[in-house]
Order: sequence, then structure tokens, then C-alpha cells
Amino acid sequence: MSYLFSPLTIKSITLRNRIGVAPMCQYSAIDGVAQAWHMSQLGSKAVGGAGLVITEATAVLPEGRITPACMGLWNNDQVEALKPIIAFIKSQGAVAGMQLAHSGRKGSSAPPWIGGQQLTDAEGGWDTLGPTDAPFDDDGTRLWKTPKQMSQTDIDRVQDGFVAAAGRAVEAGYELLEIHCAHGYLLHSFLSPLVNTRNDGYGGDLRGRAKFLLETTQKVREVWPQHLPLAVRLSMTDWVEGGLTVQDNIQVATWLKDLGVDLVDCSSGGATPAARGSINGGITQQVGMAADLRQSTGLMSMAVGEITQADQAENIIVTGQADIVLLAREMLRDPYWPTHAAQQLGVEVAQVMPPLHQFFIAR
Ligand SMILES: Cc1cc2nc3c(=O)[nH]c(=O)nc-3n(C[C@H](O)[C@H](O)[C@H](O)COP(=O)(O)O)c2cc1C
Repeated sequence: MSYLFSPLTIKSITLRNRIGVAPMCQYSAIDGVAQAWHMSQLGSKAVGGAGLVITEATAVLPEGRITPACMGLWNNDQVEALKPIIAFIKSQGAVAGMQLAHSGRKGSSAPPWIGGQQLTDAEGGWDTLGPTDAPFDDDGTRLWKTPKQMSQTDIDRVQDGFVAAAGRAVEAGYELLEIHCAHGYLLHSFLSPLVNTRNDGYGGDLRGRAKFLLETTQKVREVWPQHLPLAVRLSMTDWVEGGLTVQDNIQVATWLKDLGVDLVDCSSGGATPAARGSINGGITQQVGMAADLRQSTGLMSMAVGEITQADQAENIIVTGQADIVLLAREMLRDPYWPTHAAQQLGVEVAQVMPPLHQFFIAR
């Protein structure tokens, strides 16, 4: 028997297995609207057998996109484009998750393969927001915009954006919602002492720095159906002396639990240039952080970071380090990873194969 391939019920949804596709920016939307590319990328992972397919960081407001080609959920055209994609994911037996985000001071950037630098207004960029007016990097090696220090009005507007986008996610058919509070984007930038040096109620000690996240989560929980799971992605460590620690994040997760959050997606890094990136440098340690969080808070955890092998994923679930494993780059390499993992673990592949594949190639 495989634990990786055992179903998992969270609130009213049941995942067919514990394998999830991590949120991955596709840099392929037009005006925040999903395209055929998104159907292909997300749909193929559902056909490939994943239990959960999480859509990329999707901006709650136009200026909350990382790049001009990032997805958004601030209008109805964006909802309509997502509906057939979500319906297809469901038709293939997977659960569709949405990651809602605001890029903060790291927004207005070019896609990575064009350099990732911030864009001037003339290049199609926009003004950015942050807890203070400190840019992401001010060593002068490349252009990083000076963000606007957010006022209470700005905070209210962004929170309204999260609430409205959560409502649109319900309408589009999503069954799991994840709030993005990692990788140096807006909510994480408020949480991290490396970035947030405010001296009002949204700064100071951990509770003050968490205020923006906690208020946003509470408001989202009010509109996100009670019977559906709510997740938060945290950067479990800032990797930098004086930054957020695993213990800090366990405390934050405890507060989130009180607000009705069901599971935490344990990532790391990204707050400052000195903090390690979210896709390299020690991220295998994130699995242990997911285990610590699960043990300390009683919340469900999602582990992510260089999970590539079937027995590795099976072991993470068997040893109770996480409830779900999320794979990102390995799913780009092989959208049929769950099918191949099932074969390696001796699991009946019918669980992860559509009928056509079962009939013609599983026998
Ligand atoms: C192309 C790409 C896009 C990504 N976009 C997002 C994103 O939208 N939101 C997010 O929280 N993390 C994003 N990540 C990080 C992944 O979700 C994941 O945490 C990271 O890649 C580590 O997992 P892996 O080792 O399985 O790739 C992205 C990673 C990649 C490779």
C-alpha cells in the first residue's frame, strides 16, 4: 500500500492522492487573462495524475502582478477564461487550487528569461507598493523601483482586492485557495523584519508585522466557503540573520489556524537579495520545516523543494512530515510524474490515468 497514493479529505474535498502541482508563474497571460497555454499547462498535470493542481500566483489587482504577463483575478473576463480550465481539471479527477497574490515591491518586472529586471513606465511597468519606501535592492547594480509606503487606504484597497478575488475564485470553480505570503512579495514583505521597519500598527513586533496577513486572511475566510480548504504559503525562513525564523513562522501559523486556515505550504526565502532564492539553495530543508510546522501546530502541511523521486515523496508522507507533497520543476519535466510514480511504487495506475490511457497503454 502506498501512502502517497492514499486519498486525503480536507473539509469537503477529497484529493485522489497526496501529489500536488506547486504554483508556477507562466508569464503567458494577456491583461491577466488565462490563455490556451494555461489550459495546456494546468490541464496536462491533471491528465498526468496529480491530486491537486495549483494555479500560479494570480494578482488581486493589476499592480499586484509580478510581470505584465502574469495572471489576474480582478475582473470577470479573467473568471470566464478560467472556468473551462477548472472544469477540465475537475473532469480529470484533480482538485483545482488558486494562489492569490500581490507582488508588492517586486512587481513591475520583466519575465525571467528577459532578465527579470523592473520595468520603467515606458517599458510597460507601474508604480509598486511596500511596507516602506525601501526598494528591493538599492546597491545600484540594476533598477529597483522605490515603492510607495502603503497608507491605511492602500492596505484597505489591497485587502478588498483579496476578498473580491477570492469571490471570483469561487465563481471560477476553484476548491482550494492559497494566500501567497512568501518569496518577498507583499504580504511576506510586511511579515519580514528585514523589510518591514514601520512603526505603526502594521510594523514592530511579530504580531504587528503579521497584522496585514492576519487581517487579510480573516477577510478572505469570510468569503471563501467554510466547507473548502484555505491554505497560506509561508517563507518558513528568511535564511538571513535577523530575518524570520521557523519558530516565528510556527507562531504565525498558530494565529492563522485560529482564523480558520487549514494547511500551510512551507517554502522559504526571497525577502531580500541576500535571502536565498525560493527555487535554489537549501530548499530541500523546507521538508523538515513542513514537518516542524505540522508537529507544532497540528495544521496540515504541504512540503515543497526538490522533490523529484517517487520513494522520496512516499517517505515524506509515510513519516508524517507533510500531508501533501508539491512538485514544481519536476512537473515541468514530466507532467506524467504521478503516473510514473504509481508504476514505481506498484500502485494500480487506473487511479491516475484517464480511461483512454488505461485502455490502450496501461495493460
Ligand atoms: C517556473 C516557476 C514559476 C514559479 N512560480 C511560483 C508562483 O507563482 N508562486 C509561488 O509561490 N512559487 C512559485 N514558484 C516556486 C515553486 O512553487 C516551488 O516552490 C519551487 O520551484 C521549489 O519546488 P521544486 O524544487 O519542485 O521546483 C515557481 C517556480 C518555478 C520553477
